[in-house]
Amino acid sequence: MPNLIKNKSLKELNTFGINSIADNFYELNSDIDIFEFIAEIDKVAKPIYFLGAGANTLFTSNFNGSIAKINTKGIVLKFEDDDYLYVEANAGVVWDDFVSFCVANKYYGAENLIAIPGTVGAAPIQNIGAYGVEAKDIIHMVYYYDIESFTLNQLEANSCKFAYRDSIFKNELKDKIIITKVLFKLSKKPTFKLSYGNINDALKIKGIISPDIFVISATIKEIRDSKLPNIEVIGNAGSFFKNPIISKEKLEELILDFPSIVSYDVSDTEVKLAAGWLIDNAGLKGYQIGGAAVHQNQALVLINKDNASGKDVMDLSKYIQKEIKQIYGVDLFPEVIFV
Ligand code: EPU
Repeated sequence: MPNLIKNKSLKELNTFGINSIADNFYELNSDIDIFEFIAEIDKVAKPIYFLGAGANTLFTSNFNGSIAKINTKGIVLKFEDDDYLYVEANAGVVWDDFVSFCVANKYYGAENLIAIPGTVGAAPIQNIGAYGVEAKDIIHMVYYYDIESFTLNQLEANSCKFAYRDSIFKNELKDKIIITKVLFKLSKKPTFKLSYGNINDALKIKGIISPDIFVISATIKEIRDSKLPNIEVIGNAGSFFKNPIISKEKLEELILDFPSIVSYDVSDTEVKLAAGWLIDNAGLKGYQIGGAAVHQNQALVLINKDNASGKDVMDLSKYIQKEIKQIYGVDLFPEVIFV
């Protein structure tokens, strides 16, 4: 059984940098640690929260239960066919290390997801995404322990109910499983997606006509860095809310009052609104409650400006939700998980 650490500060273990104290803390560094932890789970103080990089978690107060940090490492090319390479990574692998591995070896498909904070095991839960690509586009299989039945299971990507920042792991399987490994399917041939946002423009400015995987990943990283605050410098968890999906009818009403509102088609009947625009246009950039603030450059990002408590961030998020509902009649839902 992995060592138990009492009264552990989680400040370095969540990208918001919130100084929450966990009553009990375990680090699961190997498959054996995970196996033993589940085998003896009856003895572990509840509730249990499995933590990756803490890149999408808001600790709202001290944690009166057990935190189990998944820290298993290892990336391996399992097999290949004529068109694809199948790469397996353990849940604790840092997401960007996995992307860098793919880029360095010219395994195509992961490059747009460069520099996203988090771990491989958390990626399917949230179906992380950026610049026109989502984790679901490259996930082949997810392996997990079912905690109750103590069995090792696997789910093919098309059974994971992947949707925009959503999956079966956030719903039906929530609190019932631990993801141990993910098998990814990368392409042997370039499959670049450059039409999202300003990727093409950024490449044009550099005078690059036929970019390779190295130029594309570097360019996307530059675009990210110009918009999102560096978690090493300012605590944050990327986008705090999901971009809300509304009907086209509702959009038409909104356009009458807000002609410059930003939206993207998602189906014949629905659009996704840019929550960052909604918050920005509501005049909330820089708005602060306690030590938590709305980021000046990207209003969808809430930051730990000055020793924020988890409650400060939560209060700020509730205030924003209330204002956005009042101004636009639109509900915002957090992408970040409140613990
Ligand atoms: N905008 C504003 N003001 C702001 C922020 C944004 O007007 O303060 C406008 C922008 O000008 C743009 C639109 O809103 O027209 C969208 O902004 P942006 O391109 O920055 O993307 P986003 O919708 O805010 C989403 C993802 C990000 C991902 C980027 C790029 C969600 C919740 N967020 O952000 O993912 O990196 O697109 O693909 O879907 C994350 O999930 O943590 C994350 C960072």
